[in-house]
Amino acid sequence: MNLVASEKVKKMSASIFQEVANLKLKAIKAGMDVIDLSVGSPDFPPPPFVVDTLIDCASDSSNYGYTLTGIPEFNHAVSYFYKQRYEVDLNPESEVLQLMGSQDGLAHLATAIINPGDYVLVPDPGYPIYEASVNIAGGVIYPMPLLAENKFLPMLEEIPLDVLDKTKMMIISYPGNPVTALADQSFFEKVVTFAKQHNILVVHDFAYSELIFDGNPQLSFMSVPGAKEIGIEFNSLSKTFNMAGCRIGYVVGNEQAIDILASFKSHIDYGVFYPIQKAAVRALTSDFTFLKTQVNEYELRRDVLISGLEKSGWYVAKSPATMFVWAKIPAGWKSREFAFELIDQAGVAVIPGDAFGDLGEGYVRIAMVQPPERLSQAAERIHEFLMEYSRNK
Ligand SMILES: Cc1ncc(COP(=O)(O)O)c(C=O)c1O
Repeated sequence: MNLVASEKVKKMSASIFQEVANLKLKAIKAGMDVIDLSVGSPDFPPPPFVVDTLIDCASDSSNYGYTLTGIPEFNHAVSYFYKQRYEVDLNPESEVLQLMGSQDGLAHLATAIINPGDYVLVPDPGYPIYEASVNIAGGVIYPMPLLAENKFLPMLEEIPLDVLDKTKMMIISYPGNPVTALADQSFFEKVVTFAKQHNILVVHDFAYSELIFDGNPQLSFMSVPGAKEIGIEFNSLSKTFNMAGCRIGYVVGNEQAIDILASFKSHIDYGVFYPIQKAAVRALTSDFTFLKTQVNEYELRRDVLISGLEKSGWYVAKSPATMFVWAKIPAGWKSREFAFELIDQAGVAVIPGDAFGDLGEGYVRIAMVQPPERLSQAAERIHEFLMEYSRNK
């Protein structure tokens, strides 16, 4: 048989994550100790009470049927969480939809909303599913550059009017991945006005809502007046409660958008495993001391990594949030060359910035998914790597 992928699939670039994983494996096989800072999968465990709930429910054999959708208790738990954490009121019946991880919703939303030829404003650099989902739907991507000199916020006023006439949706994420910047209230207000003016659905990805450092405010897009009229917000238990492998997340906000996505999803999946839903309810309605401890640990990791890199003369911006450092690489390097050499020569795996869009060139993304000692060791290895490079230049 001669089987060829569809044009849509062919359009998706081969996963750079896979390429990095292969190089990592090769280095390990060659006897190298690799410090893996590539994938953003938390190394912290979920809170013990969440694991206990999961085990209790999983030991009841009546809990193994299709759930079809989220249990009402889950929607109420999300509504409670949003009120407690972000001062946002949500109607649990109509403004909350459970997902198999926020990736599920992000991957399917464009197909549910976009017709071929519709434009979608997508951040560059941005999390890869944003672009892939629009390609799957046959939409047209209009990249919004996120530049350091603009505090990584898109310049909405620079988007041509003829593009806006054809635009149905825009995607933003603060704090995001790989760009860890935060947005302020005034930017979100500007987005609401802009979206209303041009009849655009705003999709805010808030997957890192609980990894915000230095006492910065945790600003949900939904907390901005008028946001629900034009927008939705994706969130997840993956990073907040270290339940990435459980595949549970949710989207909140605009009823119409949620209804459309729910209807599309009813054809695609049959719901999340009941014990996982119950564990998620337990997490979302806990007392949140866990979140405070966790954010402090990530903050410590960030400080250890950044100060370690500074010792080698590599000054990278301090992430205000997330589990990543978005690091501008030293002059003279291309992202891929730098990342690949770093695995090969130093045994440190990071992701080259161009994996996230053209404007990611010149950067690497470092995931803080190892304890401080390992991050400090990684910084030392990078120091030696850079010294060696400057000696041989
Ligand atoms: C910005 C961002 N959004 C969404 C996701 C998807 O997360 P999940 O599907 O586990 O909720 C990720 C995962 O890394 C992410 O970094």
